[in-house]
Amino acid sequence: MSQPTSAADPSATIGIVGSGHAGQALARTAVRAGRQVVMANSRGPESLAPVVTALGAGVSAGTVADAVGCSMVALAVPWANVPAAVEGQAWTGRIVVDATNALLFPELTAAPLDGRTSSEIVAELVPGARLVKAGNTLGQYSFLISKKDPRSTSPSMTRCMS
Ligand SMILES: NC(=O)c1ccc[n+]([C@@H]2O[C@H](COP(=O)([O-])OP(=O)(O)OC[C@H]3O[C@@H](n4cnc5c(N)ncnc54)[C@H](OP(=O)(O)O)[C@@H]3O)[C@@H](O)[C@H]2O)c1
Repeated sequence: MSQPTSAADPSATIGIVGSGHAGQALARTAVRAGRQVVMANSRGPESLAPVVTALGAGVSAGTVADAVGCSMVALAVPWANVPAAVEGQAWTGRIVVDATNALLFPELTAAPLDGRTSSEIVAELVPGARLVKAGNTLGQYSFLISKKDPRSTSPSMTRCMS
């Protein structure tokens, strides 16, 4: 696996683990910010062919390892799937944007956290990474309808990925 470039590099590719509603909304935002994106899911890159075609230029499909090979990696999988999705990957040095919510589907009940924060739990699962909780409180449509520049440093732009 190649060494990731710095996430501060505006040309750096962003990996997204989870390519459903949230993952695709994050991908569109990243592309609007001029980033390349590698999308991954549990079923492999071939299953993502229609998704990457729909998302267009700048977006490719890869394995979870390919996505985690990027310097910045967004997590967009259901809470219950986080451990399996991140297990066994090389997280050292990555910036992880955790867009998950600690909810159990389909009941939409709060997941038991044993008095911890969800970020403490996820941080422990991605050793060596720096974790940022972001994007989780915004519905996918908030990303999709936004016309703002995702690179803006305006305080109102809490959804930016730059
Ligand atoms: N929907 C929203 O508007 C929204 C907004 C902000 C945050 N979120 C949060 O984002 C997360 C995902 O929600 P969603 O609505 O995007 O769900 P979703 O549409 O069901 O998509 C889930 C994605 O996770 C992938 N996945 C599941 N297990 C995996 C594994 N072990 N390894 C790799 N990929 C795996 C799935 O791939 P396969 O299909 O191949 O299994 C699928 O691409 C949740 O934590 C949710 O709370 C959602």
